[in-house]
Amino acid sequence: MSLRGALVTGGTRGIGFATALELARRDFHVVIVGSSEESIQSAKSKALSSGVTLDGHACDITDPAAVTTLRDQLAGVSEIEVLVNSAGVMSERTAKTLRATAVEWRRVLAINLDAPFYFMNTFVPAMVERREGRVINVTACLGRFSGPGNTGGLAPYRISKSGLNALTKNLAHELGTGSRGVFVDAVCPGHCRTDMGGPDAPRSAEEGADTIVWLATRPKEEAAKQTGLLWEDRQVVPW
Ligand SMILES: NC(=O)c1ccc[n+]([C@@H]2O[C@H](COP(=O)([O-])OP(=O)(O)OC[C@H]3O[C@@H](n4cnc5c(N)ncnc54)[C@H](OP(=O)(O)O)[C@@H]3O)[C@@H](O)[C@H]2O)c1
Repeated sequence: MSLRGALVTGGTRGIGFATALELARRDFHVVIVGSSEESIQSAKSKALSSGVTLDGHACDITDPAAVTTLRDQLAGVSEIEVLVNSAGVMSERTAKTLRATAVEWRRVLAINLDAPFYFMNTFVPAMVERREGRVINVTACLGRFSGPGNTGGLAPYRISKSGLNALTKNLAHELGTGSRGVFVDAVCPGHCRTDMGGPDAPRSAEEGADTIVWLATRPKEEAAKQTGLLWEDRQVVPW
């Protein structure tokens, strides 16, 4: 029998790892996705030392064929009910629009925007068929068109996250804004102490994961009332 599955890209470290641990504690069969066997093994061992078992696969998330292969590997093992797109990279600090190289642009857009599209495109059709599923895209305040999101700099990163916000809203509407049982939302985790956020960030990875886990597990009736939105600290914020 298939297990109730949660797939977490970027689940090897930081906010994705904290999300994976918490979902596993809530009885999901959690599959983490990382860039290498080493990072997967290291995350699994770290989880085991806190008493949590994670499944995991290395995958080139920027290659749609690799994402399809992952889906085929999971078929019959786990029905993915929750997809968390947390994998992400920061762009080079100097990457203003007129200074960013085409290579840097492509690197960041491939991981932060193309990959979530491939995962949604590959894993959400089964959710739609079952009329059951949740997608949580981890975006950033830097991708918003309100607040600090449009003050320039870090162009590939900001634009990738704005794009991910747009992708979230677009898919949510295509799926009837939750009316067909699939809830698609985006989360700003806030500035967290991770490899990306650095050691001086004000919040822990667990605090960053809180709204993601909440969206993944809130009752369906509640989800149906408010979805297709951008969330921060369990509150809706403007895009
Ligand atoms: N930390 C913050 O302050 C902050 C603030 C706002 C938004 N965010 C967003 O939150 C998400 C998680 O950030 P984080 O701080 O937890 O990052 P992190 O600690 O740097 O971890 C990044 C994760 O992404 C994975 N990843 C990166 N490139 C990959 C690739 N090419 N293929 C597969 N996996 C790849 C890494 O896997 P490996 O271990 O295998 O490399 C790792 O699991 C990101 O989308 C980020 O933009 C973070």
